[in-house]
Amino acid sequence: MKVKKLKGFRDVLPEESPAWIKLEQVVSQIFTRYGFAQVRLPLLEQSTLFSRTIGEATDIVEKEMYTFVDTGGEQITLRPEGTASAVRAFVENGFDRSNPKARWYYIGSMFRRERPQKGRFRQFNQVGVECFGWKAPGADADVITMLWDLFTALGLSGRVSLEINSLGCADDRKAYSDKLAKYGAERIDKLCDNCKKRLGKNPLRILDCKSPSCQEATADAPSPVDSLCDECTEHFSTVRILLDDQGVPFKVNPRMVRGLDYYSRTTFELLTTELGAQNAVAAGGRYDALVEQLGGRPTPGLGFAIGLERLILLLGDEWASADTPDVYMVYTGAEAFLMAMRLRRLLMLRSTTTTIDFEQRSMKAQFKSANTCGAKWAMVIGESEVEKGEVTVKNLAESQQQTLSINNAIELVSTKIIASDEE
Ligand code: HAM
Repeated sequence: MKVKKLKGFRDVLPEESPAWIKLEQVVSQIFTRYGFAQVRLPLLEQSTLFSRTIGEATDIVEKEMYTFVDTGGEQITLRPEGTASAVRAFVENGFDRSNPKARWYYIGSMFRRERPQKGRFRQFNQVGVECFGWKAPGADADVITMLWDLFTALGLSGRVSLEINSLGCADDRKAYSDKLAKYGAERIDKLCDNCKKRLGKNPLRILDCKSPSCQEATADAPSPVDSLCDECTEHFSTVRILLDDQGVPFKVNPRMVRGLDYYSRTTFELLTTELGAQNAVAAGGRYDALVEQLGGRPTPGLGFAIGLERLILLLGDEWASADTPDVYMVYTGAEAFLMAMRLRRLLMLRSTTTTIDFEQRSMKAQFKSANTCGAKWAMVIGESEVEKGEVTVKNLAESQQQTLSINNAIELVSTKIIASDEE
């Protein structure tokens, strides 16, 4: 019986990987300009890290985590997101004491046992950003602007919309939560069973529920913005002014509460209408209490994560194509094979991509493969080339060829390739 991959898990095959590589390059370039440095964090963490930060009464912690006891008897979880690990690493490595202003980003796999569908997987990849140490609204605007710049650089700014909201500080959130609990209790018979249960533990979740009856019942629910204290109102207002000033278009969505419990003040989502139910391509917000909650010195923070599978779906197949080799080595006979192998290495040392067939097939078959794989040039080594120590260079697109010394052939091909790369 053939072994198959798990449901909700994917193979990224060679034809798709150029898009991943290009995307990681664009992301790294833009984030580096904004002063963010890359961190690489573990995939496995102690389970309590996630239950304490994301929140016990959230979908992720209640039913989506891959948690197991390892052979050492420790309860561990495949990370469902990156913020908890980043904050853990920030505290564990003493940044809260030595270097509390830090801008980090990461790229990697996250794991959630959700129901798979278009744009929703059980292993998926995020590019995440965490910006520690700045309480001021300038940091919120800067991080959101960076996200917008990335989508602009990818040519997607016209196909996504930015929504923002504010949940306020811990006191505001508590006041709002109480207000929402009262509002929910008055409509309890219209809520789904899950929301009925959550109302006592985590009332904000009723605004997040996908069930149509809950959405209808909570349509005119109070907004967190109406429960903000003066300082949080001012903060939210400055974020909006700064975004306006940067020309970043946004809409305030007073219902946005986010599915993770650690948020305070600004929250935001980048949405698309092109991926069906999975409409969030990126999301994030502030988490000013999280560092302290994980045992660090009080340090504000904020960030976001982009779902890379969703982003790649939006970018489409045309966005990045597989590299075709510059040169195909065509040869006949054992001596020619040795020469072709040597020449291939010399070309690759000059940054030329080459390919060769090892099966000693006919020249005709090799030329056919050269055309099929899209090579631009063929380096042909037959008996007469071996005898004279020469090589025939054939431009496959123009069907022109010339026989040259090995050095001249290398020079010609690598110069032409560099020139065409620069066009
Ligand atoms: P999140 O909203 O849970 O936030 O996820 C961020 C993004 O990851 C989503 O908007 C979506 O694009 C993608 N995503 C989530 N689940 C899946 C899935 N099952 N399949 C495919 N893509 C998915 C966080 O994870 C926070 N840690 C973001 C953050 C960073 N907040 C502050 N800093």
